Amino acid sequence: MKIRSLIIFTITVAINFMATVVFAQELSLIPLPQRIDMGEGRFTFSEKIEAYVTPEAEDLFKDFARDFEESTGIKIKKISNSSKAKLQLHTFSTLAPEGYTLKITQNKILIAASQPAGFFYALQTLKQLMPRNVMAAVSDPCVKEWSLPVLDILDEPRFEWRGFMLDEGRHIFGKEAVKQVIDIMAMYKMNRFHWHLSEDQGWRVEIKKYPLLTQVGAWRERKGLGYGDVKPDTEHYGGYYTQKDIKEIVAYAKSRFVEIVPEIDIPGHSQAAIAAYPEILACDPENRHDVWLWQGISTDVINVANPQAVKFAKDVIDELTALFPFGYIHLGGDECPVVKWEQNAQCRERLKAIGSTNYRDLQIDFYSQLLDHIKQKPKSERRKLIFWNEILHGNTALLPDNDITVMAWVGADKAAAEAAKRGMTTILSPQIPYYINRKQSPLPTEPMSQGRGTETVEAVYNYVPMKGVDRSLQSKYLGVQANFWSEWVADESTLQYLILPRLAAVAEAGWTEQTKRNYEDFVRRLQPEGELYRKKGYNYGKHIME
Ligand code: ACM
Repeated sequence: MKIRSLIIFTITVAINFMATVVFAQELSLIPLPQRIDMGEGRFTFSEKIEAYVTPEAEDLFKDFARDFEESTGIKIKKISNSSKAKLQLHTFSTLAPEGYTLKITQNKILIAASQPAGFFYALQTLKQLMPRNVMAAVSDPCVKEWSLPVLDILDEPRFEWRGFMLDEGRHIFGKEAVKQVIDIMAMYKMNRFHWHLSEDQGWRVEIKKYPLLTQVGAWRERKGLGYGDVKPDTEHYGGYYTQKDIKEIVAYAKSRFVEIVPEIDIPGHSQAAIAAYPEILACDPENRHDVWLWQGISTDVINVANPQAVKFAKDVIDELTALFPFGYIHLGGDECPVVKWEQNAQCRERLKAIGSTNYRDLQIDFYSQLLDHIKQKPKSERRKLIFWNEILHGNTALLPDNDITVMAWVGADKAAAEAAKRGMTTILSPQIPYYINRKQSPLPTEPMSQGRGTETVEAVYNYVPMKGVDRSLQSKYLGVQANFWSEWVADESTLQYLILPRLAAVAEAGWTEQTKRNYEDFVRRLQPEGELYRKKGYNYGKHIME
């Protein structure tokens, strides 16, 4: 070949190459997979394709195929001969529990995982590689050709716990809003929905043995809560989830590989329960107790030294265990003033009996009895307990063992390290910047929210989980969680506005190795999400979106 021809040939090849290769930087995947190797060309769908599906993935594949056809018009027919199938889902037992591989060639799409969750996440990635209407499961007549870039993805989460907490004690958003939250979580490969179901201002889960919890404790004579000099409004307000509702939401979450962690916050934050059953729960049953109408921390806490209150908590745990077939129950334990215990003779006696002078130890003693109760259950009913990090203010050596999880929110990094040193597992949910009920920009259009602080998308994204933690303690860190407190937020649209897109930033901290995370790249990958949110009808923060 003459030199001139060689140059022309080389330029032609280079131009063709540039036209067909999609660079990894151009993909808009959130959370970012651990490894992407880009190839050349595209896999183009025809109107019908055949798929081989391993039995482990059958159930979730049905949902995927239905939504895929709805959004693209492409029918996926299952066949048993794997070698003929264009789309193949194979079990590969050595992959991590939630991990997967996705290999796209010009002729085939090959997915492998060891468990259903891995297949689910592979299919989420596959949908994110396509126009956003596919993830939204709605049709888009503007798209003329459905195709995927040739690539190889090897992926698994950094952390096993990628959580989001919704407080429905202060305000209740309802079944459909909860399902949408679960949808958003699943889309971003988050897997723990922490459902805060009781507060001073409302009890939200039907407990058959204690019907007044919802007949009385779920209702209050105000919707907007009072604070400072601002009086509460006068609207009768409330609601709760029946056990039938809960079963429906549990099934919904399960099919999206989201475990629900129900929280009953005891013995503090319990005034609604006390209003329902003052005779067994109040430190001063002779006084009047109402569901609370204010923000802040009520001093009206459960009398932990009353055996009937302990029995109440055990009964509630039993019903929660039957309702939520998952691994954990959260018992709260934050912000529990001890002033009523100090004034109560039964509490003073109990404190003496356990050989302590620290009233916080009464709380530990209460939890110890609940832990013992759980230990006596058959293995399939034994839930692990989670507590907010204030539990560390008591003598945790009084607990039957260290087999509890500490959710670290205030001084989170230090508290988590302390929990890990005490042999407990821990979850990072730092108030700053992971309380995503707070404003997400300094703009005057932001909704009212707690405190003056602003947790921008950048601040949320740039939190570094497990920073500087000694290698010997790292196995105690289960993962990360964003929290949403609802003192100021009573409607679904504002809830969505505040969590989007910040929840995507937390999802990536939970999934992607720290060395691969980069804020500018995240913002670039976030841009197409606006179209998805609009197609889904979600409200969202637009400050950093095109
Ligand atoms: C909390 O924010 N009180 C856990």
